[in-house]
Amino acid sequence: MQVVTTVQELRAARRQMSGPVGLVPTMGYLHEGHLSLVRRARAENAQVVVTIFVNPTQFGPHEDFARYPRDVPRDLAMLEREGTDLVFVPPVEEMYPSGFRTYVNVEEITSRLEGAARPGHFRGVATVVCKLFNLVQPQRAYFGQKDAQQLVVIRRMARDLDFDLEIIPCPTVREPDGLAMSSRNVYLSPAERQAATVLYRALMAAQARYQAGERDAEALRQTMREVLAAEPRARVDYVSVAEPETLTELTRVSGTALASLAVYIGATRLIDNVLLETP
Ligand code: PAJ
Repeated sequence: MQVVTTVQELRAARRQMSGPVGLVPTMGYLHEGHLSLVRRARAENAQVVVTIFVNPTQFGPHEDFARYPRDVPRDLAMLEREGTDLVFVPPVEEMYPSGFRTYVNVEEITSRLEGAARPGHFRGVATVVCKLFNLVQPQRAYFGQKDAQQLVVIRRMARDLDFDLEIIPCPTVREPDGLAMSSRNVYLSPAERQAATVLYRALMAAQARYQAGERDAEALRQTMREVLAAEPRARVDYVSVAEPETLTELTRVSGTALASLAVYIGATRLIDNVLLETP
């Protein structure tokens, strides 16, 4: 496994590769969710490239960029075990040298949900992912359904900017009690970790009502709010039942819908989602 930190080294390593390349962009502090993407990339490509970069442009001024968890030696050991070929771990100046002025803005679908709660977040995500696509020129790129809106935004960007690659969505990996794996789960105290299961319980309650025939989107949102209200450590940011591609809020569900939520557990903001679809 080769580890590089500069654009120049990355380009040189890429030139030596033959066969399809699978890219897995991450911010590191890896867990089984990330590794599921790496394994899928390993199974489907001749070469696997993983990037570890805590991207400052996708964090708001009052968000957790400075204290976002980092452990590159541990990440590298995990990636080595998964048979990764190349890891790119650039310092911030390598991705954003002084004078950097160009950003990628995906319109409309970035104004809702996470985009509304975190202004500028998807501009940072789209910009860094665009740069990584240009640098690595992968045939396939792997993203988790855990970040459902991110997946929609990146798909849109790849189509709109004519990237010749396939975006592969991967299912959300969960802890045994349903909590979606996330690097941010380390912020939770033991009591908060227990309370955090409320996100998945709320989504499962909405799914149960959907499967029982409920098609009124507000009733499904209300179901989630009620489950969340019963957990004193939870403070709701948003609950949503939206059209999965445009992310517009639905009044009635016909076909598939994306149920998603963002909830503060103590000071930690967690997100999760499930697709409501008929079995
Ligand atoms: P990060 O949060 O590190 O996640 C990297 C990738 O792992 C994303 O595609 C994310 O959706 C996926 N992932 C995270 N938790 C997962 C889980 N429990 N199950 C399945 N997949 C999971 O998302 C980012 O980084 C950044 O925004 C990035 C795309 C790297 C751009 O900076």
